[in-house]
Amino acid sequence: MKIAVIGTGYVGLVTGTCLAESGNDVVCVDKVAEKIAKLEKGVIPIYEPGLGELVHRNHRDGRLRFTTSLPEAIAQAELVFIAVGTPQGANGGADLSGIWAVGHEIATHLEEPKTIVIKSTVPVGTNAELARRMAEETDVPFDVANNPEFLKEGAAIDDFTKPDRVVVGVRRDEVGDQLRELYEPFLRTERPFLVMTPESAEMTKYVANCLLATKISFINEMANLCESYNADINDVRRGIGHDSRIGFSFLFPGVGYGGSCFPKDVRAVIHMARTHGLPARMMEAIDEVNEAQKNVLVHKVLDHFQDDAASKTVAIWGLAFKPKTDDIREAPALVLIDALLAAGVALRVHDPEALANVRTIYGDRLTYCDRPYGALEQADALAIVTEWNEFRNPDFEVMSRLLRHPVIFDGRNLYDPAKMAALGFTYHGIGRAAVPEPLTASEV
Ligand SMILES: NC(=O)c1ccc[n+]([C@@H]2O[C@H](COP(=O)([O-])OP(=O)(O)OC[C@H]3O[C@@H](n4cnc5c(N)ncnc54)[C@H](O)[C@@H]3O)[C@@H](O)[C@H]2O)c1
Repeated sequence: MKIAVIGTGYVGLVTGTCLAESGNDVVCVDKVAEKIAKLEKGVIPIYEPGLGELVHRNHRDGRLRFTTSLPEAIAQAELVFIAVGTPQGANGGADLSGIWAVGHEIATHLEEPKTIVIKSTVPVGTNAELARRMAEETDVPFDVANNPEFLKEGAAIDDFTKPDRVVVGVRRDEVGDQLRELYEPFLRTERPFLVMTPESAEMTKYVANCLLATKISFINEMANLCESYNADINDVRRGIGHDSRIGFSFLFPGVGYGGSCFPKDVRAVIHMARTHGLPARMMEAIDEVNEAQKNVLVHKVLDHFQDDAASKTVAIWGLAFKPKTDDIREAPALVLIDALLAAGVALRVHDPEALANVRTIYGDRLTYCDRPYGALEQADALAIVTEWNEFRNPDFEVMSRLLRHPVIFDGRNLYDPAKMAALGFTYHGIGRAAVPEPLTASEV
């Protein structure tokens, strides 16, 4: 099929590339000329494992092209995917100005019937409103469909090509059939292709993200309770996870969720509820718990240094909002950096992929380290924020030699507290007692 994808970010570039990989003729559009120029030269503007190789191959073979010209991209396309950002707006709801701008441009240049597919995450009613707006601007017939994307950054190619399910929201069966044919190559293992109304499809995406965010805030709240009562959340996690009604996924305590989706999607649902005069008590609590959890390492670090924070240096491992991405949107690491800088702490930071993005925010206020061990030199403690694989099994002897004091604040519970104590570290995790236990007054 001939396809145009508008918006060449984490979702658009992956969508376009994977659709080209399955034999379609794809043109990816972005309004940022620099991004398109890079892609033309084979430079991938984001970090996503496996994406570069697929882009190169499909671009070389002529199935994947890039342009800044929307009219040129849609001229031949049967299907036009919209994958522009829908960030949080001033009122907490999704800012849909990108969707409306693209809809206007498509309608202005529509010369023959096409199917417009919204892949961006949009509030219920957006498909209907886009169709209404476009119909005011063109007499050419078109369909608007919804096709929410469930990929995870860091595993986007796998998620797109081996989806748990594909959801489409359509008003006509023919449009459902057109999308089913497009997705057929990715559904060969009997994964479901679920057809519903655009309203249900729009809602499905938000409900999925809200439930995942709920699990994270739930386990974080329980972790804090465990820590206060001297229980270990990791034991508790194992104790509940074997229950087949509960399971293990998304129940790891940490420093709160970040990224470009959960925070804004939870708030968009709160806004949707308010718009219809409905309560959104759970989602408000999920958001509140998460904002507080982003400060959990801040409190631990500042409590540890007491009044001396301003003379200390802290190393930070992991800045991206999750491993295997360079995305730092709403990343918990930024909350830690802001608070420690405000307290006068000097910071030596390392991330395998996100350093360049972090540098655009903090400039020379941080020391950027290409290697994890480099960040530890002359640091008084290490804080781990993102659980990149390379942090899971480090050389603790080297770490203890490089750090001025062997102190670790582990926001992801990567290590075994007993082992860390035996190695001579002071080790603070999430939802478990710090080791070694602080001395009581009579022992001092
Ligand atoms: N990132 C994810 O993991 C993920 C997963 C599922 C769904 N989503 C949703 O997908 C959408 C896109 O997310 P993203 O992370 O890819 O965003 P992004 O910010 O990485 O990419 C959006 C791209 O659209 C481009 N753009 C904006 N307006 C444009 C216009 N008028 N014409 C052409 N290009 C334009 C921007 O320049 C940018 O490159 C959002 O609604 C998001 O909620 C994201």
